[in-house]
Amino acid sequence: MGYNVAVDGPAGAGKSTIAKAVAKKLNLIYVDTGAMYRAIALFMLREGVDLSDREAIVRKCPQADVTIRYEDGVQVVLLNGENVNPFLRTEEVGETASVISPIPEVRRNMVALQKELAAHSDCIMDGRDIGTCVLPDAQLKIYLTASSQVRAQRRYDELAAKGEECDFRKIKADIEDRDYRDMHREVSPLKQAEDAVVVDTSDMTVEEVIARITGLCESGGFSGAASGNPARPAEES
Ligand code: DC
Repeated sequence: MGYNVAVDGPAGAGKSTIAKAVAKKLNLIYVDTGAMYRAIALFMLREGVDLSDREAIVRKCPQADVTIRYEDGVQVVLLNGENVNPFLRTEEVGETASVISPIPEVRRNMVALQKELAAHSDCIMDGRDIGTCVLPDAQLKIYLTASSQVRAQRRYDELAAKGEECDFRKIKADIEDRDYRDMHREVSPLKQAEDAVVVDTSDMTVEEVIARITGLCESGGFSGAASGNPARPAEES
């Protein structure tokens, strides 16, 4: 096993921004597990599967082959061989991912793929069940959170900056609904691992959070300098 950092937390806590930056600083591979569930969600949407029909989702699953490739350190999600990165970040795909991700048949292959990636590289992996289920032996576990008010405000600012019309109350309600679903599902619910360090980002800047997590890696003895990552340019042959 390489050096593994598990980052869990609710939607909008800043997991991917932070994990990406820490990965860059410490020469870790960044594994975005939400993107894998989003790829399955995209497949279901494209196939027109009735999302209220759990059996139909389970029947379709074997037709969705999700694999991961790294290009210049960036995770590329392949759905049946197609790079689907450009289609994964919409609200519709996110909502659908939240509906399909509780299904054990959907999770099984994703978890196996995630374990495999972590076994062969020094990585920082974010999601909902990384510290509790996917990487229970990770050297460092972070539970990254922020109040729903702050998370909704960040999302609102993001959409407003893109010139998109948005309703703060709806954004906050959607975030709280998604939290509830993620935390109360039967299989792999979002919860803090007992040995996780909680980082509440409500009153922190992005730079402060990055420094805090990088510091935790370093005080745990990982500097990145000894990284055995095959993705490190200096180690490529
Ligand atoms: O982090 P995200 O918004 O990209 O995740 C999309 C959905 O996938 C979200 O509703 C929770 C789910 N998910 C999960 O169940 N397990 C993970 N390890 C990562 C994401």
